Amino acid sequence: MKLSKKILTWYDNNKRVLPWRISQTSKKNQYYRILSEFMLQQTQVKTVIPYFNNFVKKIPNLKALSKSNEKKILKLWEGLGYYTRAKNLHKTSKILVKKYNGLIPDSFEKLKELPGIGDYTANVLLALIYNQPRVAFDGNVKRVLSRVSNINTDKAVNLFKTKRNGDLAEALMEFGALVCKPKDPKCYECKINTMCAYYSSKSKIKFKRKIKIQSKSYDIFCYLKKSKKQIALTKSNDLGFLKKFNLPKIQKAAKKNKNWKFLCNYKNSISNKKLNLNLYYKFSSKIPSKYNWYSLNKNKEFIPSFTKKIFKQITHLY
Ligand code: ADE
Repeated sequence: MKLSKKILTWYDNNKRVLPWRISQTSKKNQYYRILSEFMLQQTQVKTVIPYFNNFVKKIPNLKALSKSNEKKILKLWEGLGYYTRAKNLHKTSKILVKKYNGLIPDSFEKLKELPGIGDYTANVLLALIYNQPRVAFDGNVKRVLSRVSNINTDKAVNLFKTKRNGDLAEALMEFGALVCKPKDPKCYECKINTMCAYYSSKSKIKFKRKIKIQSKSYDIFCYLKKSKKQIALTKSNDLGFLKKFNLPKIQKAAKKNKNWKFLCNYKNSISNKKLNLNLYYKFSSKIPSKYNWYSLNKNKEFIPSFTKKIFKQITHLY
C-alpha cells in the first residue's frame, strides 16, 4: 500500500474530533479553517479548542469578523498570546470581504499577500479548503518526513499523491502529534514503520543491544613437555567455539584440580563472549589419545590467537 494511503487509513481510524474539522463542502469551512490556522500558529491544539469555540460563538463568520472592532477581537484572543495574529486576522478578513467577495483565494501568491499568512498557512489553507496537493510543513510534518526518508519539500508532493489532499495535510500533522512524536515516538504501533528509515536504523540498534554479553569461566589445562618447549593441543575441547582449532585441554570451570598446578587467571574476549580463564599446567610425557605435541618454537601461523595467548602465559615455565 502507498504511504499516503496508509497514513490516511490511520487518520480515518485515529483522528481527534476537533471543532474546525468540518466538511470541505460546509459553508463554515473557510472561516473555521482560517480562524483555526491563525490560532494554531505557535499554539497547541488543546489550548486552542476552547478559544476557538468561544470565538465562533461570538463572531460566527468572516463578514462578522471584518465588521468587529479590534478591541472585541483582542478580548476574545486574551490568553492565547501572540496578539499580532489576531490583528492580522482582522486585517485579512477585511481584505477578503472587500477584495475577494468574502472568499479565501485559491492561489498561493494571493494568499501570501494577506497579513499573517506565510508559506505554511497558505499551503495548509489551499489543501484544506481547495483540496490542492500541497504539503504544509510545520514542525510535526517536517519531523515525520525526515524520519521516514529525509523527504524534502519538492519530493513530498510526488510521494503523497492522493485525491484526499486536504485530509492528508491534516493526517500528516496528526500523525506527527500522536505517533511520530519528538520524544518516544510510537514506532512499534506505527502503520508505516516498514517503510521508515528511522525505524529500521533504530530497530537495528535495539537488536544489537539485545545480544547479551555472556561471561563464562573456563579452566585450561596445559600438558607441557620440556624438550622443544612442547604443549599438547587437541581439536576436541569443551569450548562451544573455536572447535576447529588446536587448543589445550579446556573445561568449564572445575573446582578441584589436585594434579594440576595453578598458573594464573586472565580475561579474554571472543566476539560477544567474555571469558574468565584459569590456567593450569603439568609436565607430563603421557597425554590422552586425542592430543598431539606441538613445539612453541614452531611457526605459529595457523595457531589461533586464543591459543597464542596461552603460549605467552606458559613460555617462561620451560
Ligand atoms: N496545527 C495546525 N493546523 C492544525 C490542524 N488543522 N489540525 C491539527 N493541528 C494543527
